[in-house]
Amino acid sequence: MSETPKKRTTILDLQSMKSNGEKIAVLTAYDYPFARIMDLAGIDVILVGDSVGSVVAGYDNTLPVTMDEMTYHTRAVARSVTQALVVADMPFLSYQIDLSEARRNAGRLIKEGGAQAVKLEGGVNVAETIRAIVAMDVPVVAHIGLTPQSIHRMGGFRVQGRQEAQANQLLADARAVADAGACAVVLEGIPADLAGKITTELTIPTIGIGAGINCDGQVLVIHDILGLCEKYSPKFVKRYADVSGTIRQGIDDYIREVKDGTFPGPEHSF
Ligand code: KIV
Repeated sequence: MSETPKKRTTILDLQSMKSNGEKIAVLTAYDYPFARIMDLAGIDVILVGDSVGSVVAGYDNTLPVTMDEMTYHTRAVARSVTQALVVADMPFLSYQIDLSEARRNAGRLIKEGGAQAVKLEGGVNVAETIRAIVAMDVPVVAHIGLTPQSIHRMGGFRVQGRQEAQANQLLADARAVADAGACAVVLEGIPADLAGKITTELTIPTIGIGAGINCDGQVLVIHDILGLCEKYSPKFVKRYADVSGTIRQGIDDYIREVKDGTFPGPEHSF
């Protein structure tokens, strides 16, 4: 495996990638070993997503995730990453109450977590919050469309923007977050044509998840692409490996060898 060292990706690089038509590859990570492997592989951006609540902590959704948990996971990721841009998710209730709390919590993810940018969900309704965080020189990635923290308003994880009124609202959301100074925007669970329209109109990069091929980049949850999370597999996920199967095989072999006395062998003993 040959690894070409490269300098740290910055938000300026993401902008150049959009201008040059180079696609941006983004994955989630929540801990040191996964983040290290994807950093060495050359991933452009690592998102410490609040999806940690679903795929690591086993909650049904992302709402229970706290600032302390996000800070802990961000710190573990940031410790192992030298090349990718690290973006940390702001969890539910960390930016919705008031601007001062939002700014403090964004600052924590940079200062204590070691991220280079934060991400928060919403469009027109969070434009003022994005502006306030950007004003303290913390880059913000916006997230519109199927926003998991709004699960109860949406009535479940549903594709957004299929009807004209919803599509127009999403266009307004995209314009609002870009005008507020977001450095990129995640488009989740929206029709590919609408994502293409937003991508063409905005000057900032769009990162799609379940939003088709027309975005400037793609993001997926690492547990989903490696086959580590069986309880939920959305249509937009492509599975690149069966890590659950590999882990299960290793654990089965270990149990069998302990039971039949094959492990530990002389080479593992003092
Ligand atoms: O929390 C997360 O992992 C995310 C991505 C899936 C976009 O927000």
